[in-house]
Amino acid sequence: MGDLATFGIEWMRSPLGVGAIAPSGPLLAALITQDAGSLLGPIIELGPGTGVFTRALLNNGVPEEQIAVVERGEAFLADLARHHPRLHAYHGDAANLAHMNLFGPGWAAMVVCGLPLLSMPPSKVYRILAGAFFHLSADAPFRLFTYAPGCPIPSAVLDRLGLGARKIGRTTFNLPPACVWELRRVTEPRTEKADTPPIEEITP
Ligand SMILES: C[S@@+](CC[C@H](N)C(=O)[O-])C[C@H]1O[C@@H](n2cnc3c(N)ncnc32)[C@H](O)[C@@H]1O
Repeated sequence: MGDLATFGIEWMRSPLGVGAIAPSGPLLAALITQDAGSLLGPIIELGPGTGVFTRALLNNGVPEEQIAVVERGEAFLADLARHHPRLHAYHGDAANLAHMNLFGPGWAAMVVCGLPLLSMPPSKVYRILAGAFFHLSADAPFRLFTYAPGCPIPSAVLDRLGLGARKIGRTTFNLPPACVWELRRVTEPRTEKADTPPIEEITP
């Protein structure tokens, strides 16, 4: 099936779950996957959709078997697995990342995130990030894109996980224009104290 047909099927099934009006463009894909080929270790991609970022990772020289994709849309995942049979393809919710055995032992060198984080509650964003950093090596980046002007991760979530955020680029040649952000560990995750409000109470 063609990319747009698959995108249409998944969009009609869950417009909010897909969270975009079209697949990302090639310039955004190049921005979010830049330098991926020089990293040592496997790469995790969350929410690959039609595989725009997956193909950019492959074009960067990342071998298929060094990429694990986690995708909730069955049609998206089936198409990707058919075109790239050596990918590690997982069907499921990225919020369960901490419980997934993606590549066996060893740490991942980067996460490329295509998830619609802005339409998710902070508690879910927290679980996704905590799970992703569980798999990442100490100084490895988590890259994400957003159509919003600022970082889409609530500062309370960054704070609790000991993460710093930095914008690494923006492209107007995308529908809509988008920014790429990179998150990295800057301190130890905060130990929860008795008076810390539960993560469910964090507002976006
Ligand atoms: C905005 S689309 C991005 C697709 C692709 N990365 C791109 O940039 O064109 C979001 C993707 O995340 C997937 N998705 C949304 N929520 C998810 C979740 N909780 N776990 C895994 N995949 C999810 C959707 O099915 C969709 O493929």
